[in-house]
Amino acid sequence: MFKKQTIRDIDLSGKTVLLRADYSVPVENGKITDDYRIKQSLPTIKFLLEHDVKLIICSHLGRPSGPGDDANSLFPVAKRLHELLDRQVAFATDCVGEPAKKAAASLKPGQVLLLENLRFHPEEAANDEAFGKELASLADIFVQDGFGVVHRAHASTDAVTHYLPSVAGLLLEREVDTITKVMEEPQRPLMAIVGGAKIADKIEILHRFIEIADFVAVGGAMANTFLAAQGIAIGDSLYEKADVPVAKDLLRRAGRESQKRPFVFSVPHDGVVSTGIDPKLPTRIVDFSTHAIADIESYPKRVLHSASHVLAHEKILDIGPFSGSFIAGGVQLANTVIWNGTMGVTETVGFQGPVGPYSHGTDIVVDALLGEFGHKPFTVVGGGDTVGYVESRGLVKSFGHVSTGGGASLELMGGRTLPGVEALLDKK
Ligand code: 3PG
Repeated sequence: MFKKQTIRDIDLSGKTVLLRADYSVPVENGKITDDYRIKQSLPTIKFLLEHDVKLIICSHLGRPSGPGDDANSLFPVAKRLHELLDRQVAFATDCVGEPAKKAAASLKPGQVLLLENLRFHPEEAANDEAFGKELASLADIFVQDGFGVVHRAHASTDAVTHYLPSVAGLLLEREVDTITKVMEEPQRPLMAIVGGAKIADKIEILHRFIEIADFVAVGGAMANTFLAAQGIAIGDSLYEKADVPVAKDLLRRAGRESQKRPFVFSVPHDGVVSTGIDPKLPTRIVDFSTHAIADIESYPKRVLHSASHVLAHEKILDIGPFSGSFIAGGVQLANTVIWNGTMGVTETVGFQGPVGPYSHGTDIVVDALLGEFGHKPFTVVGGGDTVGYVESRGLVKSFGHVSTGGGASLELMGGRTLPGVEALLDKK
């Protein structure tokens, strides 16, 4: 159970509330291309407005170089919020100083103000006390609802809480509760499907999943590093040479775990390869299982020649049909699945159709997760690009929980404490 006080536990009447949201959303030419995070903040906003508070919202967007970085302005978010809430949303051109003070002072109960990007001030990321105090001076209560950013100790996640009674919003509560529950007391069997590009970002959660899950399947470019660690020819595929020892270590640990209890750690058995991501280039399926080489250090000199190993100029761009079916079969046996990271290159430049040539692996996994093959487990989708993919297919509502956090959900799943949650008032 969530151990911090929330907006349900505090007297809001007549109060001015400073709400920290995570509105770091993709914006192209002034238009928001994915508003998932904004929509997920609405229940908290509506709850607060139903209690007639004067509402000031602050957030960061991207990693701006400094003030006046228009591409990172939150102004498009104010417009989108206005549409979604169907009420006026005032906008202050700075999050502190006169523009913020003036706009805050003119707010009436039930009105909403969005402040400009917190990260236009370097003091935000520096967790500067004076900056946190200045933000706090705008309100009576601080509400943290920016789950995506609570793994950072910044002024708007930490310092500000030193000056105001600080509680959680409904999104933060739901994110922390759901993710903690599937990690600590999942309906077993528990399966973790981990993809994406980099092992480095996911070492901690891979260790944790090896410890607690019943089945761990890896895919995406990250799997190439595992294949390389097993001495399998990967041609010109994206992989992280420096992380090969990390992958070897994880494979050894997974091997030890599977001797102790029923546990499966699965690296792709086959892949879809091509010489580039241009969808017009020919593709082929390669079975990895027969092409182990003696020693990755000597690769590519000692690749065993065979009819279908990955050639030196080829790249693995997706998991193959056998691996896709194997993972989908695992999903049939699982009652809880945590999924983070796509299985292949799902965004193929220049491809106009609904499904790119390298998204089949991800698609079969998604179909399995959504019950297309008969059994639908409880699903948690963690973070970043995976959410973008799920959104692009209009499937967000079909999953059990789709997290708004990238790094934050990884850190929470990895067992770390989140400074922005720790800073809030404990439940009485
Ligand atoms: C995210 O997009 O993961 C959050 O908004 C945090 O952003 P950051 O990685 O720039 O701190």
